[in-house]
Amino acid sequence: MEGNIFMTDIRTESTSVTSRALLFDGVDTKPYVKELSVRAPGAGEVLVKMTATGVCHSDLHVINGDWPYPYRLMLGHEGAGIVESVGADVSDLAPGDQVVLSWFAPCMNCPSCHEGKSWLCQGSGAFVDGLPDGTTPLAADDGKEVRPYLGVGAFSEYTLVPRPAAVKIPNAVPPEVAALIGCSIATGVGAVGNTADVRAGQTAVVVGCGGVGQALIMGLKLVGARQIIAVDLSDDRLDIARGFGATDVLKGDDPDLAKKIKDLSGGGTDFAFDAIGLTSTSAALTGYLKQGGAAVYVGMPPRDAEATIRPWEIIVTGQRILGCNYGSTRPAVDFPKIAELYLAGLLPLDEMVGERIGLDAAAEAIEDLKSSIGRRKIVVY
Ligand SMILES: NC(=O)c1ccc[n+]([C@@H]2O[C@H](COP(=O)([O-])OP(=O)(O)OC[C@H]3O[C@@H](n4cnc5c(N)ncnc54)[C@H](O)[C@@H]3O)[C@@H](O)[C@H]2O)c1
Ligand SMILES: [Zn+2]
Ligand SMILES: [Zn+2]
Repeated sequence: MEGNIFMTDIRTESTSVTSRALLFDGVDTKPYVKELSVRAPGAGEVLVKMTATGVCHSDLHVINGDWPYPYRLMLGHEGAGIVESVGADVSDLAPGDQVVLSWFAPCMNCPSCHEGKSWLCQGSGAFVDGLPDGTTPLAADDGKEVRPYLGVGAFSEYTLVPRPAAVKIPNAVPPEVAALIGCSIATGVGAVGNTADVRAGQTAVVVGCGGVGQALIMGLKLVGARQIIAVDLSDDRLDIARGFGATDVLKGDDPDLAKKIKDLSGGGTDFAFDAIGLTSTSAALTGYLKQGGAAVYVGMPPRDAEATIRPWEIIVTGQRILGCNYGSTRPAVDFPKIAELYLAGLLPLDEMVGERIGLDAAAEAIEDLKSSIGRRKIVVY
């Protein structure tokens, strides 16, 4: 059908679909599954039939109330699916294509996007948990507003996103892996390759070895880091970290943690990544570094959290503190690149995939992140 002048009509659906989705009404309530309606894609939009959604700690931050929201959310942001239909002017995606969803869809029209730094976009629909024009494509029969978390809302059988949020990757990538590329993997691998620009032979410590920490370790191994010190409170997570390439493991509650890191690394590491976002872990990060090293904040704190640093020490040691939003990735460029690295056997992404669960078990799985045991749970549809 390529080139057929009727192709646009054939590919465009005009009716909405019903979808079971995980909704959240706000702090002190529990997420619940409810059927809602997702409208048909208009110009510049894509309707996606979800295949897999990872359970990420950012969903836990939401239900914990770390980042309060004034409206009802359709939860989930680490997802992938198959294009169901596209808006009339979308010519570079077709039904049947596998897409990874980007939870920070760039507007492509702000100064950061013009500079090619779409991870710093100032006009993303992610800021309003909706489409770039501020509206929501979702409707529930109770009449109450419901908005897709970060403009994605991936815990749902269907979702509707703007074109830049749907990134095509080869259908040969399994859905579970595709879903993880949408958050933890892009963030961890991107933090190493883009934000920090780690080079072969350098050293790093990774604090927090959940999904994001595991992706950091994989990224560090990929670029040839010679020492990767993994830190976690959970022995299970430290075992997993070793499997991904950690050369040394340490307990996060060890009172001599900084000294042990300095001893193991001969005076401090080139990089220290925080992948849990506690005030205490963020503040401690520069204490693990050598002269000129860089601390990379990846784990997210509550919005109003404050941590103390010692500016004098930063100055005299020439250290740097780097903020990492979404692995400083440009989804359209980096997601397919990550998929190709996986298909070439250079990133063992299958090993991040844990238990596959149904949508009805998603709320419990988000809570269960607190146990810090096992690999990433993934909702499959
Ligand atoms: N910057 C970004 O763009 C971005 C993207 C995705 C996720 N995140 C954030 O990254 C963080 C991690 O997400 P995740 O899904 O990997 O979480 P996770 O729940 O899978 O893993 C967190 C890990 O941190 C460990 N931990 C807890 N307290 C610790 C301590 N004091 N010392 C050492 N380890 C400790 C836990 O045992 C667990 O293994 C979250 O804050 C999440 O919101 C940030
Ligand atoms: Zn996430
Ligand atoms: Zn932008």
